[in-house]
Amino acid sequence: MTQEHESLISAFKARGQEHVFQYLNEISEEEKNLLFEQLSGIDLDEVDYLVERYVKQEGESDLDFNKMEPSEYVPHFDKDESVKAQWKEAKKIGEQALREGKVAAFTVAGGQGTRLGYNGPKGTYPVTPVRQASLFEVFAKKIRYSAKHYGAPIHWFVMTSVVNHEQTVSFFEENSFFGLEPEHVHFFSQGLMPAVDFEGKLILESKNKVVMTPDGHGGSLRALNRSGSIAKMRELGVEAISYFQVDNPLVKFIDPYFIGFHLLGKSEMSSKMLAKAYALEKVGHFCDYEGKQMVVEYSDLPNEYQEQRDDKGELRFIAGSIAIHIFSVDFVASVGGDDTTLSLPFHKAVKKIPQLNEAGELEKPAEPNGVKFEMFVFDALPFAENPVLIETLREDDFSPVKNAEGVDSPESCKDHQLQMFAKWLNAAGVKVEKDGEGVPSFDFEIDPTFATDVDSFLEEWNQLTEKPVIVSGTVLEG
Ligand code: UD1
Repeated sequence: MTQEHESLISAFKARGQEHVFQYLNEISEEEKNLLFEQLSGIDLDEVDYLVERYVKQEGESDLDFNKMEPSEYVPHFDKDESVKAQWKEAKKIGEQALREGKVAAFTVAGGQGTRLGYNGPKGTYPVTPVRQASLFEVFAKKIRYSAKHYGAPIHWFVMTSVVNHEQTVSFFEENSFFGLEPEHVHFFSQGLMPAVDFEGKLILESKNKVVMTPDGHGGSLRALNRSGSIAKMRELGVEAISYFQVDNPLVKFIDPYFIGFHLLGKSEMSSKMLAKAYALEKVGHFCDYEGKQMVVEYSDLPNEYQEQRDDKGELRFIAGSIAIHIFSVDFVASVGGDDTTLSLPFHKAVKKIPQLNEAGELEKPAEPNGVKFEMFVFDALPFAENPVLIETLREDDFSPVKNAEGVDSPESCKDHQLQMFAKWLNAAGVKVEKDGEGVPSFDFEIDPTFATDVDSFLEEWNQLTEKPVIVSGTVLEG
């Protein structure tokens, strides 16, 4: 036993966690070393704090909902003519930043996609109507298009987790990085947090391993620092990080308007919102609280607040969060760095966590038996100076694939892609036949190598000397 191992044993004993060593006499030297290596990465002070706050006490929100005010936002120019000039100005600034290579793309792709019932990294899921291109392919091609359009490389940072890192990297390799330069794509794995049972004890998943789970998308801010990505961005001259989730193929993440608003506002963290479709839509709610902007998740906000209406009968907390943000590199360096006064809070999730039984065999419990801890990225908002919030339109920016059926499913996402493509064609004066629900009556697609939004579509379309006829199965490529 080395001295280091002995001091680990005393430290874990002192915190009432000595059960993690109960199989020490039954495992090989190599297995022991792996156990000690894993345990040395666990912050026992943090575990104690989390157990005290979130397991022994209820601990979640201590917000006084009556103090919440709806956040102000810049409305979309399609909804409010008076802001058109402001949007035009923002676009110019955003385009300039893109020409100067100051923007990097950042995808959080560490989740497991359990709700979708898909076995594999969510980014490999096929989504487009005709070619069945994967989410990763769609994003890669948007980056390819924009880098060419603005004449400057756009580096892409992809956060994975232990559950899908290798499969994700292999998928890119097998697909030749979808035509991107491999050195422009940077993968790193997010951090892990130990799970505990309802007594606050670490949970063993084997005789030499405790259960550790991904630390939530909020962990991305730490991981960007720890992986060296922030240092890399500084070397590359990147100043703004365009953050988006892996589940939404519509997302306009190289959006010169949004980038421009972020830069003009000297914002540390900017967000897009959309008007909730109905009062109880399952999204986070943007609000101001004691002078700070924040997002309150639907599950934390009592229905009476989600349903509140103003004098005009409009929903008071109308601004829904769709998890699209821009961060300044300096902000992520501070909020994801070592200064614990700036740390994001944790949220607990009560789960059924497989664990070793009395006989030393792994068993999935029938009832929830423990707690996982996650950070949420939007909890960084209250730390941000000058947060900017702009409105986007659902049909242009948001249709995630989350569930196998119904709302936010592959089927709804396909319909929304078709509607978005049809909107672009309509803007160019081309009518697309639709069914009673307003969805095009046949499948076609506009590949991101042709255009990534309505502005770029019109530019490209108008340059075509011969306009193609859009029929079932058409794929318009650049
Ligand atoms: C999330 C937001 C919700 C927002 C909605 C929009 C939370 C708690 N809620 O809900 O406010 O309206 O998206 O689509 O986030 N991920 C990681 N690592 C993790 C966990 C998640 O990278 O440890 C990634 C996933 O790969 C995915 C994204 O984060 O890209 C969202 O995770 P998910 O758990 O699906 O969030 P939602 O509950 O759908």
